[in-house]
Amino acid sequence: MGSKDATEMLAANAAGIARAAEILRNGGLVALPTETVYGLAARADSAEAVAKIYEAKGRPSNNPLIVHCADLRQAEELGQFAPATRAAAQLWPGPLTLVVPLMQGADIAARVTAGLPTIALRVPAHPIMHAVIEAAGVPVAAPSANRSETVSPTTADHVVATLNGRIDAVLDGGATACGLESTILAIREDGVGEILRPGPIAAEDLLRIGVALREGRSTTIEAPGQLSRHYSPGKPVRLNAQEAEADEFLIGYGDVEGDFCLSSGNLEEAASRLYAALHDAARSPEPRIAVAPIPHEGIGAAINDRLRRAATE
Ligand code: TXA
Ligand code: MG
Repeated sequence: MGSKDATEMLAANAAGIARAAEILRNGGLVALPTETVYGLAARADSAEAVAKIYEAKGRPSNNPLIVHCADLRQAEELGQFAPATRAAAQLWPGPLTLVVPLMQGADIAARVTAGLPTIALRVPAHPIMHAVIEAAGVPVAAPSANRSETVSPTTADHVVATLNGRIDAVLDGGATACGLESTILAIREDGVGEILRPGPIAAEDLLRIGVALREGRSTTIEAPGQLSRHYSPGKPVRLNAQEAEADEFLIGYGDVEGDFCLSSGNLEEAASRLYAALHDAARSPEPRIAVAPIPHEGIGAAINDRLRRAATE
């Protein structure tokens, strides 16, 4: 987004930003747009506020939260960055979450990290999210703004669909740009990174800026968010479909057109539209969902990761 667009967006949302920051300071819950998906925000230093996130989402207590900061300086008060500074300096603000050792004595509610010795931190690039964190003056814990195990929200409508009545406010910033949750990168003590969740920042992007990556995916499950059952549209999902059966809603890509075409061939565009497609498919009269093959390159790896989870019953 250009700085002119960002300035206009901030001016148009000034009242909403001030109101959201006030709700957060007072320990309430607000759904906010980020560049990835909408987040359900609460101040990260308040046990009561953080408890409300778990309550509203129906999220298991042992699944830790990402803490969103205004800048690297604020993040450095919560996590030990020594080997992670390169990734943070080059890719923040942006759709990258870094898992680093928790700073001793960090002012953070215990449930945020669910007892892990590490903390997940991100500096988001969305002008509204960034402005709200600055105005609130505190780091903000925010999972995706949906009930646990449902498809993540990329519009304010998606948020309202599962959280209406459970939260204090939604700030509508339009559809999110990336459309998939941030890449989660754990930087280990030896300085080598492990991708815990593929996302908009691809492994190729990390290697290009000199982040060393461990070969293959991590085999130890550190957090339940990495378990398969997730992102469920509530109907059976068939992958790699060339055409639809009579009772299927087909999500297309490339030459496979379908009922909802993700893109004629651009993977970034497909990623930004994936969850809207799953929401539409879930609401359609067809009892089943089929999805065209998605090339497994760049952000295609993250798209296929989410589709595989959506197809897991
Ligand atoms: O793009 C995003 O990351 C969005 C926006 C709102 O920022 N947030 C998001 O949060 O996707 P959520 O709660 O849906 O996913 C957070 C993931 C979970 O899989 C959780 O288990 C993992 O982060 N996580 C949090 N802390 C962790 C830690 N210390 N070690 C490993 N995984 C962690
Ligand atoms: Mg989520």
